[in-house]
Amino acid sequence: MKEAARPEDVLAFADAVLSGETNLNANLANIAALLGQFLPRINWVGFYLLERASGDWVLGPFAGKPACTRIAPQRGVVGAALGDRQTLVVDNVLEFPGHIACDDASRSEVVIPIISQDVVVAGLDVDSPEFSRFAAPDVELLEELCRRLGTHWQSFHWY
Ligand code: SME
Repeated sequence: MKEAARPEDVLAFADAVLSGETNLNANLANIAALLGQFLPRINWVGFYLLERASGDWVLGPFAGKPACTRIAPQRGVVGAALGDRQTLVVDNVLEFPGHIACDDASRSEVVIPIISQDVVVAGLDVDSPEFSRFAAPDVELLEELCRRLGTHWQSFHWY
């Protein structure tokens, strides 16, 4: 059983992470671990980042099983959501045309874009072994987290 956390506690922890450090890798790693620790009934959580040269979405920090490293534009749930610049909730991934199965246990999924200076720079992807796992208030919490990440994105650096 995971530790329960209130949404405001998750956001407060995320704010502490984001205000204390500007390394993108470190911050995304800690936020993936935070969500992995506190979101119940999920089997994978992590980030896909825009590779500007190819337009592909490339695997970033995550918590879960090893995952597909590269997703082409408009492919899978990730490519669809990020290409459309919109949160995409898939209640049954087995019925989603083109779903990319990284973990066979996944049954539902949500992908939320992270937007910085009007560009979708990355996405947050969460998978669950339960059908229809993702609804408010969890989706709203994840969207708020992604808004805050987008706001800080320009101040982050990789090295
Ligand atoms: N299922 C995703 C691929 C990423 S994994 O879930 C980690 C998709 O269809 O794009």
